[in-house]
Amino acid sequence: MRRAKISIIGAGNVGATCAHWCAAAELGDVVLLDVPQTENMPKGKALDLMQASPIMGYDSAVSGTNDYADTANSDVVVITAGIARKPGMSRDDLLSTNAKIVTSVAEQVKRTSPNAVVIVVSNPLDAMVQRAFQVLGFPSHRVIGQAGVLDTARFRTFIAMELGVSVEDVSAMLMGGHGDTMVPIASCTSVGGIPVSQLIPDARMAEIVQRTRDGGAEIVSLLKTGSAYYAPAAATAQMVEAIVRDKKRLVPVAALCDKEYGVGGYYVGVPVVLGSKGVEKIIELSLTDSEKAAFAKSVDAVKSLVASMETLLKA
Ligand code: NAI
Ligand code: 2OP
Repeated sequence: MRRAKISIIGAGNVGATCAHWCAAAELGDVVLLDVPQTENMPKGKALDLMQASPIMGYDSAVSGTNDYADTANSDVVVITAGIARKPGMSRDDLLSTNAKIVTSVAEQVKRTSPNAVVIVVSNPLDAMVQRAFQVLGFPSHRVIGQAGVLDTARFRTFIAMELGVSVEDVSAMLMGGHGDTMVPIASCTSVGGIPVSQLIPDARMAEIVQRTRDGGAEIVSLLKTGSAYYAPAAATAQMVEAIVRDKKRLVPVAALCDKEYGVGGYYVGVPVVLGSKGVEKIIELSLTDSEKAAFAKSVDAVKSLVASMETLLKA
């Protein structure tokens, strides 16, 4: 049986770490690509990952390249190309530079891997996945963005830390854009099956929700040289796994929503069933009034981000 082919565009912190998680979990053979200016850097990282394989016991092949021909006919393409946040920068400050980078990457992916499921990671995520979708012209179920798995993982981590319980027992859902307006859905959050409202007082939950919203900025302020990559890469690898193993995971991803939630044709974070075809179903939750209002605010933020991107691309 042919192994899945996973190409990761952008061999920086998130891309290379995602290659590591994908190879270690034997999700398929991994191709790491970066721009020609980086010369042999992707080859170096790939060879290093191959040399870890006898120790860690994985059989995935990992290769590095500057040439899209080597990524041809990938089953999954992950786009992490672009600049990352530095202290004082918001995700949205990356808009102009990364919109151009994602445009050029999507043009190449469209040509070389026309049947792939594409996972966009580059920020600002909701605008970048919308841009990739516009350029790729693939069906929307095959173009998705990674944000919700990461943001939910941060939320779950903070709840587990608060209660002193295993992260494995914390189940949560988070919707909206990957920004300050993201919407943790408290009504869908439980610990060992117990609604979190019975375990953490509302005022403390509000602080945990805020820490989750600021989760990316907290890491940026600690690292100072860039943004988070271990958890973002792990989140992306979980999405790759759901696709290549057709796992039908129910996870939050940035998916194109039209009639769903009345969004009207924008990518926003919603719960989906993720399998070999990409998004196999968008789940429409019944939200409380305050969750609906918070989601609508988040969708508005995404719409204005996309409008700014389209203005910048026309300039
Ligand atoms: P990084 O700077 O370590 O790596 C980015 C890589 O992209 C560099 O190696 C660069 O040479 C490469 N690149 C630039 N233009 C390219 C092009 N046209 N084609 C191919 N490669 C190109 O940055 P890092 O930390 O890996 O972050 C990557 C992106 O992911 C950033 O935009 C960051 O904001 C975003 N991110 C998104 C997250 C999410 O949850 N959606 C979480 C963490 C990061
Ligand atoms: C994060 O959430 C910067 O989007 C990136 O860590």
